[in-house]
Amino acid sequence: MAAPQSKPLSRQIALITGGGSGIGRVFAEGLLAAGIGKVVIASRREPTLLATADALNRQFGGSRAIPCSFDIRDRQSTEALVEKIHRDLGAVDILVNNAGLAVPESIGNVTEAGWDQVLETNLRGAMWLTQLVLPKMFSANFGDIVNVSSQAGKNGYADVPSYCASKFALLGLAESVRDEIRRRSANIRVFNLCPGLVDVESDPNGPAKSGFLHVRNMMATLLYALSLDRDVDLHDIGMTSRSL
Ligand SMILES: NC(=O)c1ccc[n+]([C@@H]2O[C@H](COP(=O)([O-])OP(=O)(O)OC[C@H]3O[C@@H](n4cnc5c(N)ncnc54)[C@H](OP(=O)(O)O)[C@@H]3O)[C@@H](O)[C@H]2O)c1
Repeated sequence: MAAPQSKPLSRQIALITGGGSGIGRVFAEGLLAAGIGKVVIASRREPTLLATADALNRQFGGSRAIPCSFDIRDRQSTEALVEKIHRDLGAVDILVNNAGLAVPESIGNVTEAGWDQVLETNLRGAMWLTQLVLPKMFSANFGDIVNVSSQAGKNGYADVPSYCASKFALLGLAESVRDEIRRRSANIRVFNLCPGLVDVESDPNGPAKSGFLHVRNMMATLLYALSLDRDVDLHDIGMTSRSL
C-alpha cells in the first residue's frame, strides 16, 4: 500500500487560536522556526496579536505570522475567520485549538455565565473550528487537528469543575472526529496535548518555576507529534513536571 501523502511544512498553513500569547505564541514561534509556510494567530485582542505577529516576523523575517482577531464564542466571527483564511491563504493544514480559559468556581458556586464562558470558549469553539476546517481537509486528504486539553482533562479538580468538564469533553470530541476520519479513511490526524501546569513566562533558556513545565516542552511536543509518520494514530499526550 502507498504511504499516505505528506506535504512539505513550507507549503502548510497553520491556524493557532490564542496564538498571540502564552502557549499559543510559543507554538507559532516553533512552527515558524521549523519552516512552516504561514501561521495565522487568532484571538480577541488585536493589539496583542499585532505585537506578537510583528515580533515573530522580525525574528524570522518575511510576513509568515498573520494576526486575525475573532471571538471564538461568536459563530459569525468564527466563520468569518475561516472564510478569510480560505480566501486569502487556502485550506488550513494544521488547526491548533489552543484558546482556552478557566473560571474558578467550585461546584456549589458555578454560575451560568461562568459555565457558558468556559464551555463556549474551550469546547464549543474548538468544535466549530473543527467543523469549519474539516471539509477542505477531507477534499485535500490532508490535515492535522491538535487540541490543547490539560491534566484537567484527565483528573478532576474541585476549584475548576467547568474547566475540567470542558477539557475532558475535548478528548471525547477528538475521539468522535477521529472515528469520522477513520470511517472515511482520510489522511487527517487528531491528537490532544494534556499538560499539567505550564510556566509561560519563564526565561527561554532557563528553568521553569518549580512544579511547572517549561513552555518550550509544549513547542517540542507539538513539533514531535507533527513529525511522526502520517499513519501513526497518536491520541493523548500527557505531560507533568516532576521535582528533581
Ligand atoms: N498555562 C497552563 O498551565 C496550562 C496548562 C494546561 C492547559 N493549558 C491550556 O493551554 C491553552 C493556552 O493557555 P495559556 O496558558 O497559554 O493562557 P493564555 O495566554 O491566557 O492563552 C489563552 C488564549 O485564549 C485566547 N482566548 C480566550 N478567549 C477567547 C475567545 N473568546 N476568542 C478567541 N480567543 C480567546 C486568549 O486571547 P484573547 O484574550 O486575545 O482572546 C489567549 O491568547 C488553554 O487552552 C489552556 O487551558 C494551559
